[in-house]
Amino acid sequence: MKQLYFLLCLLLVGCRSEPKVDYEAQKSATFTTAAVAGPHPLATRTAVEVLRRGGNAIDAAVAMQFAMAVVFPRAGNIGGGGFLVYRAADGATLSLDYRETAPAAASRDMYLDTAGNVTEGLSTRGHLAVGVPGTVAGIAAMHERLGTLPWAELLQPAIDFARDGYRLSESEIDRLKRYHADFNEFNETTPFSDSTLGAGAQVKQPDLAATLIRIQEAGRDGFYTGETADLIVAEMESGGGLITRDDLAAYAPAWKEPITKDYKGYRLLSMPPSSSGGVALAQMAEMVEPYPLGDYGFQSVRSVQVIAEAMRRAYADRAEYLGDAKFYPVPVDSLLDDAYLRQRMADFRFDTAGTSVTTVAGQVAMKENFETTHISIVDSLGNAVSITTTLNGNYGSKVMVDGGGFFLNNEMDDFSAKPGVPNMFGLVGKEANAIEPGKRMLSSMTPTIVEKEGELFMVIGAPGGSTIITAVLQTFLNVAEYGMELPEAVAAPRFHHQWLPDQILYETDALAGGVLDSLTELGYQFREVNSMAVIKAVRVLPDGSLQAAADPRNPDDDVEGY
Ligand code: DON
Repeated sequence: MKQLYFLLCLLLVGCRSEPKVDYEAQKSATFTTAAVAGPHPLATRTAVEVLRRGGNAIDAAVAMQFAMAVVFPRAGNIGGGGFLVYRAADGATLSLDYRETAPAAASRDMYLDTAGNVTEGLSTRGHLAVGVPGTVAGIAAMHERLGTLPWAELLQPAIDFARDGYRLSESEIDRLKRYHADFNEFNETTPFSDSTLGAGAQVKQPDLAATLIRIQEAGRDGFYTGETADLIVAEMESGGGLITRDDLAAYAPAWKEPITKDYKGYRLLSMPPSSSGGVALAQMAEMVEPYPLGDYGFQSVRSVQVIAEAMRRAYADRAEYLGDAKFYPVPVDSLLDDAYLRQRMADFRFDTAGTSVTTVAGQVAMKENFETTHISIVDSLGNAVSITTTLNGNYGSKVMVDGGGFFLNNEMDDFSAKPGVPNMFGLVGKEANAIEPGKRMLSSMTPTIVEKEGELFMVIGAPGGSTIITAVLQTFLNVAEYGMELPEAVAAPRFHHQWLPDQILYETDALAGGVLDSLTELGYQFREVNSMAVIKAVRVLPDGSLQAAADPRNPDDDVEGY
């Protein structure tokens, strides 16, 4: 038995008594020169090593994203997609959309049964849930345009983690155990198939190391063509998935102008469609701006009402109008028009709750633990990077590419499978977010950079599905309106309204001191949740130093810098 265990260890998990890499996460710190906030200490450390070697924020982000694909497998990925918002030290801004796309063989009703009902699980688990991955193409594009250190060098830390092994965090072990049965359902084996993974377990991922080496040698082609593409297509064919070699070869990331919104001396820069994040954040900021939230006080009845009603209205518009602007005429300018947004709040009254029956789009349920990655980086020159990437659910579709060693996303669930039927985040959508071949599914990811009086002020973002946008808004307001220090602003309990269902989700400690009762009397409905989005942010302090804050909601969240 012991021999068998030893053999298993050799094959699957390293069993050295001394862990190769040890780590402790730290949630906040202030640095003089450069700072990184992210979801895992080994990844933040990787980024800081690149910065110390003279790499810029993009170089650090490249190394960190690949490192996360190894050490943070529940969300770090090469089989998913994401978004970059970038602000150069000279103030120039850019965003990069490397969201997944629907395969060419996808169709509007692909998740409906013969009676026209959505088939439970088809868009969330298994091969049919997978969108064409964008992550590797996105990272290659950002490196090509903005990176300075050699590509191969930036891949090496991830390859080392995958090939030589690293110690799993307690929270990852916990999560891996929870999804063990799912892995078995869709995979013959994974590096995580050992259900006895215990504290201190080390894991090696040789197939993933080989995939990363192919990417190291051939750039994006090491993923979208050749052996890796063959492995992805073979995996698809083995499980009834749709992605073909042509889908992979055709994948292209897209450079875009960020959404911008001025707010009382600040400027928010965030992600345009195919994410809803930037538009909804800007709409909410504009709707709450006329109200003296600072005077009302943090999570006072009045503050919560104003913010929740702005959320309700922004998410109503999201459901009607937002989707991939390449496929649907998303009326971004109208949605962000100041007069339109002031008008949106015209029917708001302090003496009663609004309703999502009367609040519909303007004229122009949480089923599992969710996970995504967000990284916020400021380098020594003042370049700032805000990146959110995801597989969607934990370990995405739970399908690992056989021989490739990486999980594939279940991002297809972010489309509206049928008008009015909620996805796994309870979000509804219509025509704007219907499935079409080659189209990007609507996201809520909100990588954001904030300027104050023209200077870099904050880099912020989060995982958390539909709650990402409202968490970014509240954390910003906690600093800008309620005068909190960044770590306090990140940790503060939050609430969330997304139009439908017509209820305010609130974290256990939120809405304290009778506020919940007062709002209930006004007609609001509530649902308590353990926690929502998980913010990672960096703020430039008045003396120029960098205050980084990760979120106590995720044990592995970490900040590093120098
Ligand atoms: O793009 C989106 O909005 C979702 N797929 C993000 C998923 C997510 O954040 C999961 N959880 N933390």
